[in-house]
Amino acid sequence: MKRTPESLFEHIAQDNEILSLFKPHSWRVMYLSSMLAKKINIYDEDLRIAALLHDIGKMGISKKILLKPSRLNTIEKTIVESHCHIGNLIVRKELGKTRAARFIRDHHENWDGTGYPRRLIGEDISIQGRIIRICDSFDAMTYDVRNYKVTKMSYQEAFHELRKCSWTQFDGNLVEEFIFLLTELKIPDNWYYNFNPESLAEINKKIDNFNLIARSNWR
Ligand SMILES: [Fe+2]
Ligand SMILES: [Fe+2]
Repeated sequence: MKRTPESLFEHIAQDNEILSLFKPHSWRVMYLSSMLAKKINIYDEDLRIAALLHDIGKMGISKKILLKPSRLNTIEKTIVESHCHIGNLIVRKELGKTRAARFIRDHHENWDGTGYPRRLIGEDISIQGRIIRICDSFDAMTYDVRNYKVTKMSYQEAFHELRKCSWTQFDGNLVEEFIFLLTELKIPDNWYYNFNPESLAEINKKIDNFNLIARSNWR
């Protein structure tokens, strides 16, 4: 049977507690990243695959470490950070998707060079990695169980946080595109629960429209 990104994800998530737990997060990051990439006209299948499988490298990491509510010690941190390399390896070896694997490796790099695993700076980080970085963080702030705060942030609070970390953690231009997109699309906070291919098609149509308007404004 030919292995697809979806079947790989489902297959591993099926018998892995951690990946099942993060499944909705992975789907949301895939949708959000795809929208943002489409907005700036660089969407392709490798971006989509990388966003869906960005955390697949967490499969072997203990739940005790991944869900630890208190600060991680140095060894635990090293273990968690290894998920970028492991994910890169899985996607390269299992799917033969070298380019998508590179985006996965980049998804925790920070604009100012303080990220991991390679401490890349600015545009040395693939733009796809920078996109996933933003969508992943946004989702962690608004939905994720890993979030240490008891109450989840509202979209507005998360936008504020993204802006606060622009040009340190995040590519500030992409942050503005992302906020514009979510604001203009008027996606409600609970969008994920009634999400389906039709609503994605609808959203993509709107994004194409924004892009058309933007292009005509340049002229
Ligand atoms: Fe990650
Ligand atoms: Fe993630």
